[in-house]
Amino acid sequence: MEDENSIMKADYKNWMPQGMINSFAAAAVVCWVLFWIINNFNLLTIQPTKSIVSVALLVLWILLLLMTVWMFLMHRAFSYDGKRQMSKQIIEGISAYVNVPDGGKCLDVGCGSGALTIACAKKNPNAEFVGIDRWGKEYASFSKNLCENNAKAEGVSNVSFGQGDATKLSFVDETFDAVTSNYVYHNIPSKDRQAILLETLRTLKKGGTFAIHDIMSKGKYGDMEAFVKQLKDMGYEEVKLIDTTNGMFMTKFESIWMGLSGSAILVGRK
Ligand SMILES: C[S@@+](CC[C@H](N)C(=O)[O-])C[C@H]1O[C@@H](n2cnc3c(N)ncnc32)[C@H](O)[C@@H]1O
Repeated sequence: MEDENSIMKADYKNWMPQGMINSFAAAAVVCWVLFWIINNFNLLTIQPTKSIVSVALLVLWILLLLMTVWMFLMHRAFSYDGKRQMSKQIIEGISAYVNVPDGGKCLDVGCGSGALTIACAKKNPNAEFVGIDRWGKEYASFSKNLCENNAKAEGVSNVSFGQGDATKLSFVDETFDAVTSNYVYHNIPSKDRQAILLETLRTLKKGGTFAIHDIMSKGKYGDMEAFVKQLKDMGYEEVKLIDTTNGMFMTKFESIWMGLSGSAILVGRK
């Protein structure tokens, strides 16, 4: 049975899943063991096959080891318990842009563990927050249940969570007074991520506000300056793309080594 303390403290998990780090570390160990066996027992005697397999295993071992260290450092930087607490800084930074009128409703797309939904709900106690996620694919530790337990642990009741797909939201046009999202769309295999942004904005009421943070590099999103202009031409107001790698959420150096270059928050009003 779950003890009471385990549900008293919110657990937002980590954007770099521990399971993934463990898998890479285990694969590195397997490579090293195979390399050692091949070179210490006469299981593979034919040359040049033995040399080719040995070199391949060694290269693979080095790559896996480097990946494991990189992922471990990311995990440590993101951790809510660690010194850097980068995830917390980003979530709080985005929530500062989410202002929902009393009685209003806000959507958080790809809510994961509920961190952003709950942070926004705390800031706007008289509004209602809906978090949706497709859960159960690459981020195995995130779930609806986890979101609900986190909301309970934080003492937040103006939230609800449900299964959903960012590419095809199940809400009619102009449902929400605000929409938000953090580091979701770059995970979605798509040639047109601007179309996913428009799908989110479809659910926003006229006059509603948006704050969407992601890796909005040219490679992932295409020309975002042109997208900002497109929104303005469509009648959106105060549309801005704010670079968050200039110290706002992370340093330029962090964005580079963590693969987060191009991180920006798209804000504005419909
Ligand atoms: C890096 S996590 C971020 C979670 C959360 N936004 C946060 O800030 O803590 C990315 C999330 O996007 C979700 N996701 C990926 N593709 C999605 C899709 N097509 N529809 C909804 N959620 C999606 C994943 O399940 C995962 O929870």
